Amino acid sequence: MPMSFQIFTYRYLLMLSIFMLLHVLTACGGGGDSHLGNGGGGSGVVGLSQHGSTNSHNDSRRGTDCMDCHTSGPGTGVFVTAGTAIGAIDVEYYADSARTDLRASLEVDAYGNFYTVNAIDILTPDMNGFSQGADVTVVMPGEVTRDMSGIVSHTTAGCNDCHNSIAGPRSPL
Ligand code: HEC
Ligand code: HEC
Repeated sequence: MPMSFQIFTYRYLLMLSIFMLLHVLTACGGGGDSHLGNGGGGSGVVGLSQHGSTNSHNDSRRGTDCMDCHTSGPGTGVFVTAGTAIGAIDVEYYADSARTDLRASLEVDAYGNFYTVNAIDILTPDMNGFSQGADVTVVMPGEVTRDMSGIVSHTTAGCNDCHNSIAGPRSPL
């Protein structure tokens, strides 16, 4: 068995076990699904951003690539996708560019961050290491939407990796 495949399998199993553990602990979760009617104030569910929750960072880590620390540590949890979009309400992941096939919607928390440890099918790599990828939309107040024309895959789901301090289309979300 090739080395890279072993590592992949290990990480996948690790992700899976954390996901299942969280499921047991919270009896909630769901594949990055919002509209659960909860959230709003306080710490919220571990590993899943919610409106009003304050589990994430309010310091200089905000706006930097969450995946630097939340794939193999030292950050808590293995994030499937994460980023910072201060002022936004939700971040949506669609299976089509027309945005009719919604697969996941993440709530932006009290610090402007969004993240999930729960699997999203179109961001889950297959045996060859490919994922279908997602067409992403940032939802602003007043139902104003901002679409990214390019597709995000499991390797580019750490949004702040590109959307950081650089000006232009890759500016902070
Ligand atoms: C430089 C490393 C680093 C970066 C970058 C980082 N984190 Fe963390 N994160 C940590 C560490 C370490 C912890 C453990 C608690 C602490 O130190 O605050 C943590 C804990 C968390 C937690 C609490 C655990 C949970 O799942 O509820 C959340 C949420 C979180 N980080 C979200 C984020 C988000 C979102 C980003 C990107 C905007 C991010 N982190 C970027 C290191 C990092
Ligand atoms: C590999 C770099 C890269 C990553 C990672 C990335 N983006 Fe983008 N994004 C771009 C570029 C380049 C553009 C401008 C061209 C376009 O729309 O495809 C853009 C544009 C956007 C826009 C439209 C412009 C705006 O600011 O309103 C949104 C919204 C957006 N991205 C959201 C996201 C989200 C959410 C993620 C993470 C799930 C993400 N991006 C990850 C490179 C990236």
